[in-house]
Amino acid sequence: MKKVGIVGWRGMVGSVLINRMNEEEDFKYINTSFFTTSQTGQKAPGIINAEPILLDAYSIEDLAKMDIIISCQGGDYTQKVYPLLKEIEWSGHWIDAASTLRMSDEAIIILDPINESKIKSSLKFGNKTWVGGNCTVSLMLLAIHGLIKEGAVEWVSSMTYQAASGAGANNMRELLVQMGQLYDSAESEINKPNFNILDIDYAVLDKMHSADFTRDNFHVPLAGSLIPWIDQDLGNGISKEEWKGQSETNKILIGEYKSIRVDGLCTRIGSMRSHSQALTIKLKKNYEVDEINDLIKSSNQWVTLIPNDKESSIHNLSPSAVSGTLNIAIGRIRKLALEDNMISAFTVGDQLLWGAAEPLRRMLRILIDKDDSTF
Ligand code: HSE
Repeated sequence: MKKVGIVGWRGMVGSVLINRMNEEEDFKYINTSFFTTSQTGQKAPGIINAEPILLDAYSIEDLAKMDIIISCQGGDYTQKVYPLLKEIEWSGHWIDAASTLRMSDEAIIILDPINESKIKSSLKFGNKTWVGGNCTVSLMLLAIHGLIKEGAVEWVSSMTYQAASGAGANNMRELLVQMGQLYDSAESEINKPNFNILDIDYAVLDKMHSADFTRDNFHVPLAGSLIPWIDQDLGNGISKEEWKGQSETNKILIGEYKSIRVDGLCTRIGSMRSHSQALTIKLKKNYEVDEINDLIKSSNQWVTLIPNDKESSIHNLSPSAVSGTLNIAIGRIRKLALEDNMISAFTVGDQLLWGAAEPLRRMLRILIDKDDSTF
């Protein structure tokens, strides 16, 4: 059995990964060591075939004994530890959730429903560094997989509605704290039978602007508001999250599909863990909506086409409908009255599952199963 080290298993993405590995019984097929940055020597989680004691996540000697390391520990950890393993010519596989190595030549961005053949050929050629993609990119590609396979897409504009989870666990909690504070600020008026909505609105706005409103992580209100910028400011009017849309998409597609232009604005909204995106897609020719729907429906087993009507859309095409599942919902598909061959679509997927943990888990299965693609 392959020795697999897991780092960052207690964090948000790591916990989702461990849950999925339990559900799919992945631990049966590996010998797992749990690494820690702070509790070396303490008891490890009681999981089948796992070593009983936590190992030091900074011990290059212990890490180097692993055939495969999965890191959900974050970019700083990758930056510190990965070069040290390379320096001693460690021959194992590094699977990473952090973005640090994504665009480096040695890394393949893993999203196997889309680029399985590239993953497998790179594996044959000795590639050892596998990095999960940006969540928005992975979720979009899975949603429009059918159009990409067909070579139908000229460009995509993705306007995102990204969940708090993408910013981290503390941010998710802060969103709820903000919601609670806003409610508390207007509670007495809210509960009056003859409430005055403008009094409620002024109280909420006052609270958002007050010095004691909690904003340690987001720096600004998210509850009752939104944040039209995600990740770093690249200094040219583009956010790093927006830059990833173009660059990572094409790194995933290169070698198997035609490249596509991707651009749009990324926005943080007050949903918990599912990212949504409103897409404007310029197609290469005039497809009928039924043809588009058929291409999308048949592309992969996770995509669910939601009929473009009000009832289906409000019930099935939202963060609350898909969160906690591997379902990639896509709907609101119609021709736009703007230009020929231009359609709209709206898609939503769980940012922690397909957007983060699931591609890592599936990469592990590719490494341990080699030719078995039935997982
Ligand atoms: N950058 C994403 C976000 C998270 O902030 O929502 C994961 O790729």
